[in-house]
Amino acid sequence: MALCMYTTTLLFLLALCAIGGHGEEKQSRGHVSVVVVGGTGDLAKKYLWQGFFQLYLKQVSSGNTFSFYASGQSPKDKAAPIFFGILKAVSCPKDVSDERCAVLKEQFLRLAQYWQLKTLDDYRNLAKQIKNQVQEEGLTEAGRLFYLSVPAFAYADIADNIDTGCRPVGGTAWLRVVLEKPFGHDLRSAQTLASQLGKALRNEEMYRIDHYLGKQVVSKILPFRVENKRFLDPIWNKHHMERIEIVVKETLDVQGRIPFYDQYGVIRDVIQNHLTEVMALLTMPLPAKLSDSEEVLQNKLWLLSSLLPLGKNQAVVGQYQAYQAEVQRELNKTKDHISITPTFAAVLAHMGTAQYEGVPILLISGKMLDERVGYARVVFKNDMFCLQNSYRCKPKEIIFYFGHGSLRYPAILVSKNLFKPSVPEGEWKEVTDHTNVDVLGSPLSDYYVQTPKVQQEAYAELISRIFAGDKNSFISTDNLLASWDFWTPLLESLAASFPRVYPGGADNGDLLDVRLKGKEITYKSDVVFLGPEQVKGESARSFLVMQGTYRSNDMVSAWAEELIERLAFDIQEAAEAAVLRGDVFHMALSGGSTPIALFHRLALHHFSFPWRETHIWMVDERCVPPTDLESNFHNIYQHLLQHVRIPYYNIHPMPVQFKQRLCVEEDMTALLYHEDISRLVNGSRFHFVLLGVGHDGHTASLFPGANAANSENDLVVLTESPVKPHQRMSLTLDAINRAHKVALLVMGKGKHELVTQLSRVKDEPNKWPITGVKPKNGTLVWYIDYDALLG
Ligand code: BG6
Repeated sequence: MALCMYTTTLLFLLALCAIGGHGEEKQSRGHVSVVVVGGTGDLAKKYLWQGFFQLYLKQVSSGNTFSFYASGQSPKDKAAPIFFGILKAVSCPKDVSDERCAVLKEQFLRLAQYWQLKTLDDYRNLAKQIKNQVQEEGLTEAGRLFYLSVPAFAYADIADNIDTGCRPVGGTAWLRVVLEKPFGHDLRSAQTLASQLGKALRNEEMYRIDHYLGKQVVSKILPFRVENKRFLDPIWNKHHMERIEIVVKETLDVQGRIPFYDQYGVIRDVIQNHLTEVMALLTMPLPAKLSDSEEVLQNKLWLLSSLLPLGKNQAVVGQYQAYQAEVQRELNKTKDHISITPTFAAVLAHMGTAQYEGVPILLISGKMLDERVGYARVVFKNDMFCLQNSYRCKPKEIIFYFGHGSLRYPAILVSKNLFKPSVPEGEWKEVTDHTNVDVLGSPLSDYYVQTPKVQQEAYAELISRIFAGDKNSFISTDNLLASWDFWTPLLESLAASFPRVYPGGADNGDLLDVRLKGKEITYKSDVVFLGPEQVKGESARSFLVMQGTYRSNDMVSAWAEELIERLAFDIQEAAEAAVLRGDVFHMALSGGSTPIALFHRLALHHFSFPWRETHIWMVDERCVPPTDLESNFHNIYQHLLQHVRIPYYNIHPMPVQFKQRLCVEEDMTALLYHEDISRLVNGSRFHFVLLGVGHDGHTASLFPGANAANSENDLVVLTESPVKPHQRMSLTLDAINRAHKVALLVMGKGKHELVTQLSRVKDEPNKWPITGVKPKNGTLVWYIDYDALLG
C-alpha cells in the first residue's frame, strides 16, 4: 500500500510538472471517486471517458486526487480489457505536447479500474475500497460522482444501492449522481421516476444531463443576453420579434436504436428536452446573477409554466419512408405492422406573457433530412422598404448556430443592421475573416460573428460543471415536470395521428415545409405526392389515406384532415379534367355541417382551382330565405363562394323563394331548377355531386318513405323532412345517378353506428334512400373518416 501511495503521489507530481501547475480551483481539495455505471457502453466510449480525462487534465494541478471506476454488470475479466481499450483512445487537447500527453494518459490509466456493480454488496464493497484508499493514502474524501450511463429503467435500483451501500459518510464529502435522459415518457411516468429517485437522492445530488446545455453556443445564450443587454432590452419583445425558430435537422436515420426510438419519437427524443431548453434560455427572464443557480432555475421554471397549452393543430408530424421496414426488422414484426411514431415534427408554441404574446416559436427537428444543422434564430421585424438594394432592408436576426451545416463551427451571428455585439475578453473571439459561405440563406459577411476560441465537446463541458457543482446547466425536477406538463397533452392528442411520409434527404423537397396560420401550423403543400422515382413500394399518400370498399363501392378512409385534403384534391382533379376537355365543370353541393371543412379547404388551399369555369349547383335546400342561417345556400356561400373568384352567374341556388313565397307547389319552382339543369348541364349529368348521409339513411333531402326517391324523369322535387324546417327541395335519385362522379362524405364518431348499419343493409331506397345512390355511368366513392369508420 505504501507503494501505491507513493505511486499516486509521484504521478500526481509528474502531472503537475507536465501541465504547468496553473489554475487553482475554488473546490476544496480532496479525493474524488468517479464511477461510471455502464462504463463500457456506447456513450461512455464515445464521450464520457474523454470528458473525464479532460476533467482530470484540468484538475490535476488543483490538489484533488482521483480514482476512476468503470462499472457494470459484467465480471471484471470480461469488461476490464474493453474498458482499457476505451481509455487508450482518449486524446489530449491540441496545446498539450505529445510527451506530456503520454505521461498524463499513463497516469490516468493507472488511476482507473473496472468494478463490477451488480448487487448491493458490490456497492458496499466499492464503498469499503474508497474508504480504505482514502485512509491508507492519508487523503480526505471530497466526493463521489456516479454517472449512470444505463437504461432509465435501472435508475431507481441503482440510486437505492448508492444510497444504501455507497453514500459517503461523515457529512463533508459530496455525492453527485448524474442521469441521462429519458427521464420518463410523459408527465405521469416522469413524476413516478422523480419520486422513486427522490427516495434515494436529494435534489442537490441529482444532475440530470441535457447535453445541449453543454454545447458552447447554447451555454453562451444567457451570457450573450446579459453582455448585450443594452441592445437587446428594447427589442427582445413582441413589438420587435417576428418569430423564434429552434431547429435541429439530422441526416441520419435511427437504425439500431428502434427499440428505444419507436417508443419515443422525435418530440420526446429531441424537442421535449433539447429544443425546449434552448427555447427557455432564449426567453426566460435574466437572473440578477448568472452564477446564481437557484435563480436561473426558478426563472426557467417560470418561463416553462407560462407557455400556452398546445393544441393538436399546433404540430405536424412526419416519418421517413424507410422507417416502417426498419421497425419491422428490428422489432421482429410482420409486414402489416404499422408504426406511427414520428421521426419529424414541427411545433408552433406561444407564450402567455406580455413580453412575448403572439410571437410564434417554431420548434423543428427530424431525422433523414437534407442536412445536419442546429440553430436557434430570433428574427426581428423589419419595416424598411428599400428602393435600391440596401443593407437596411436585409433580414434582421440573431442566430445561435450550434454547429455543422454550411458554417461548420459553433457561432453567434448578429445581422450587421441590428447592432455590433460585445465580445468580452475570455473564451470567445470575433471572426473577421469571412469565408464565402451562406448561413440560412444570407452571406456570412452580413453578420457580426463570434465563436469560441477553442471548441469543446458538450459532455466534457458538462462533466467539468458537475465537478464544479454548477447546477444551473442541469435539469431540476421542477423544470423537468414543467416541461412534461407542457408536452404531454400534445403527445396525447397526436398519439393516433398519421405522420406524413417523406422519402429522406434532398428528395424531401418542400414536402416538410410548413405554413403558420395564426395559432396553427400546417404542411405547406396540401396533399402528399411522392413521385414514382421517390417512392419505392407504397406511396406516402396511400399510407396516410387508406383505400378499401364499402357497400361494393370504392372507399377512401383517413383521419378527418387527410380525408378532406384528399376529397378536395379529387374534386380539383375532376374539375381540371373537365376543363381540359373543354367543358365547364358542374358540381352539385350539399348543405349541413359535414362539408364545411371541405369548403374551407377548397377556399383556402386550392388557389389554382378553375373557379371561372365551375358552376355550383345545389343538391338540396331548405325552404327558408337564402339569408336564413338554416339555408344551405347561405352555408355554401359563407364558407366557400364568398372566398373564391367564381362569376356570380355560375352560381345556381335552388329557387326555394319565389314571388315572396317559399316552396309553393303551384309555383313549380322544382321544375324551374329541373329546366335550368337540363338547359345548362350536358345530358343533365353533373360532373361531381357531393352528398352526405343522415342518421335515418337520408341523402340530399330524400327521406325514408318518400316516394320522391323513386320519381322517374324528374331531376328536382319538393320533399318533406321529419325535422324542421320540414319543407325541402332536392335533387332526385335520378339526377344524382346520372352524375359522372358522386362522393359520399361521412365524418365523425356520431356516424359510426350508421356506417356499421349501412354496411349490412340491402338496397332499399324507400327505407334507406342512400342505398338508391348508384350512378349509372359514373362512379361512387365513399369518403369515410376513421372516427366514423372505426368509432
Ligand atoms: C440525442 C438524441 O439526445 O440528441 C438523438 O437521442 C439525437 O436522437 C441527438 O440525434 C442530437 O444531438 P447532437 O448533439 O448530435 O445535435
